[in-house]
Amino acid sequence: MGLSLWRNGRLATLDGDAPWGLVERGALLVEGALLRWVGAEADLPRGLDVQAEHDLDCRLVTPGLVDCHTHLVYGGDRAGEFELRLQGASYEQIARAGGGIRATVAATRQASDEALFDSARRRALALMAEGVTTLEIKSGYGLSLEHEARMLRVARRLADQLPLTVLATCLAAHALPPEFEGRADDYVDAVCSWLPTLHAAGLVDAVDAFCERIGFTPAQTRRLFEAARADGLPVKLHAEQLSEQGGARLAAQFGALSCDHLEYLSDDGVAAMAAAGTVAVLLPGAFYFLRETRLPPIARLREAAVPMAIATDHNPGSSPTLSPLLMMNMACTLFRLTPEESLRGMTVNGARALGLADRGRLAAGQRADFTVWDLQHPHQLAYRFGGGNPCRRVVVAGIERNR
Ligand code: NIG
Ligand code: FE
Repeated sequence: MGLSLWRNGRLATLDGDAPWGLVERGALLVEGALLRWVGAEADLPRGLDVQAEHDLDCRLVTPGLVDCHTHLVYGGDRAGEFELRLQGASYEQIARAGGGIRATVAATRQASDEALFDSARRRALALMAEGVTTLEIKSGYGLSLEHEARMLRVARRLADQLPLTVLATCLAAHALPPEFEGRADDYVDAVCSWLPTLHAAGLVDAVDAFCERIGFTPAQTRRLFEAARADGLPVKLHAEQLSEQGGARLAAQFGALSCDHLEYLSDDGVAAMAAAGTVAVLLPGAFYFLRETRLPPIARLREAAVPMAIATDHNPGSSPTLSPLLMMNMACTLFRLTPEESLRGMTVNGARALGLADRGRLAAGQRADFTVWDLQHPHQLAYRFGGGNPCRRVVVAGIERNR
């Protein structure tokens, strides 16, 4: 297999002990879809049969960004609800009045497969333009076997047609569909019965739920997780976003890949996540857009060495953003992460939240997914916000994506 050499870059490898794993005048040697060697150009092994050489022009190189929590496939938008919230209605009040997630469910059920695909594709392209090479997409706006499957198929089709990795998460336990009004337990039974069908069709990589006063109880979430476990699927959870439900503790008992949001996470929850190796996925876009004031317990998570990831949570209701860099900036300004933690959150820890150990660092043996930025130092990534996209080149599995 041919070798290609990328030379003359400043590498934020996130590998080793140096801050950012920084390598000046660095080089990356790519063989097929993998990184074969990463280091200072002066140390490059001799006598290699390099078939293609690329000059990085002293630019910054990071691992490809991993957006580990999105709801990218849906119909319609919720700009009207944004206005209502500005007039004083809360996210919970709108949901209880039949709006919120249910409004998007109605719009999604009405949209054709093509319309869902086209709009999701445009959103994925916007994320990719800012350096994303791995993306998770949740269902959860179908809420019937047919419509959940449709959403998941769109996610799989994006993976087939675009140069990036897409993981699909079944979030059928996102809200109660109107046809199950007053019968939440029956709906959870139904979702449990759909999982083997969706999994057998190759449509699911993980199972998620919304454990919340306006979502599902811990007991219902537990039943869903038992079904996921019986079907051999990993779990993750929208936990402690609007209130403390003990969802994080429960998810940790099931070895969850991640717990996401976590504004109301308790000390117990932190300890349970640390013991289980569960990643904390922080979503500053939703915190900002819902004008929340309660911060996730960042210092506690840091003390307990719980890995922290950051994601866009792109969705029409609580986080209609398509900018991973803005999320890194907000993770610093709103949540007080360090700029380096924000980059680890969008790369290596995002990958971990998806159960992927083969990406997120620039190191020999990792996938050759990397992004080249028109920047000199990695702390500039989180510093800038709102426009002027500095992403210049993106390489996915060793192949440069068309610009
Ligand atoms: O991650 N919290 C639940 N789910 C989404 C919001 C979905 C919506 O409002 O449409 C979230 O914030
Ligand atoms: Fe979400």
